Amino acid sequence: MSIELRGAGILGTGSYTPEKILTNFDFEKFVDTTDEWIVTRTGIRQRHIAEEGMAASDLACNAATRALESAGIGAEKIDLIICATITGDMPFPSTSCILQNRIGAVGAGAFDLQAGCSGWVYALTVATQFIKTGIYNHILVVGVDVLSRLTDFTDRSTCVLFGDGAGAAVLGPVAKGEGVLATCLGADGSGAELLKVEAGGSRLPASEETVKNRRHYIKMEGREVYKFAVKIMVEASIKALGECSLTPEDVDLFIPHQANERIIDAARDRLKIPAEKVFKNVANYGNTSAASIPIALDEAHRSGRIKAGDVVVAVGFGAGLTWASAALKWVVPAK
Ligand code: UT7
Repeated sequence: MSIELRGAGILGTGSYTPEKILTNFDFEKFVDTTDEWIVTRTGIRQRHIAEEGMAASDLACNAATRALESAGIGAEKIDLIICATITGDMPFPSTSCILQNRIGAVGAGAFDLQAGCSGWVYALTVATQFIKTGIYNHILVVGVDVLSRLTDFTDRSTCVLFGDGAGAAVLGPVAKGEGVLATCLGADGSGAELLKVEAGGSRLPASEETVKNRRHYIKMEGREVYKFAVKIMVEASIKALGECSLTPEDVDLFIPHQANERIIDAARDRLKIPAEKVFKNVANYGNTSAASIPIALDEAHRSGRIKAGDVVVAVGFGAGLTWASAALKWVVPAK
């Protein structure tokens, strides 16, 4: 069933990454790795790391402010804030509520959404429904993660991969047939063990034992996630495009989750999308989880890589396991 009274599109974008940078050479000093291994296996050269005391809402606030400026919309016009994150300021209240107060979005509802690195596209999907049905007019969709807080800097197989950041978009009504054309969400909880932080929840609350055994850090079966990622990025992209009668040939800009350059290249190859139509910034940021796609989208928008009318496909995968894709016809965002 489809109740679509109007279109929903991105009216403005913003992003923020902390100033502090850790290069691959910095890692060589404290873990058994090399710049050469990291670059050839992942494409990552550096990542931004939040200073001590900095939390998700601090990064989100900067990205959101930039997105509101880009959309030319005051915070008081925002009806809803959805923040995709797995590293909120604290277990509760939500980071969205903290953000709502910080930016002065006095009329907005606010909640967080958790879908790992697919989170921002999940949040975009939720926001789109409210706008297409006319329930809300303006929604702030944020993806933010501070994965450095969950990173075990003694585990070389994961610590070189992640970075901190935030990306945001303001969604609003556009003409039918423009903006977000289709989205596709998926999950396979049988893969929950492949990528997780096992302690700190109701299953294994924090204790001296969990801290001593480093169970509050990210654990990942990298190879398994890799295989899943390539397959699902291809399938999810084709599915979202198919929903609006498009194919990979119609794509003007492909914006994949920035986890590993080899995953991006393998998916691009299978989709037969030319290299110049793929946006990559993984070298500069590493994997910023829920922030990865909105940061890339913001950079693509601000650098003029996306023009009005372009077909853009964003696709993510992550813990859960989850995946999410969106096909958009880009509208001219207000300045
Ligand atoms: O947002 C979703 C989050 N996750 C991902 O997207 C991750 C998906 N997976 C990946 O990106 C890749 O699997 C990794 C980058 C994590 C690993 O690359 P790989 O080509 O799959 O390497 P591997 O895990 O098969 O490891 C190959 C070797 C191993 O040594 P041995 O057993 O062959 O002697 C590792 O111990 O590389 C070793 N290794 C390292 N060596 C130097 C693992 N990490 C490092 C490191 N530096 N940082």
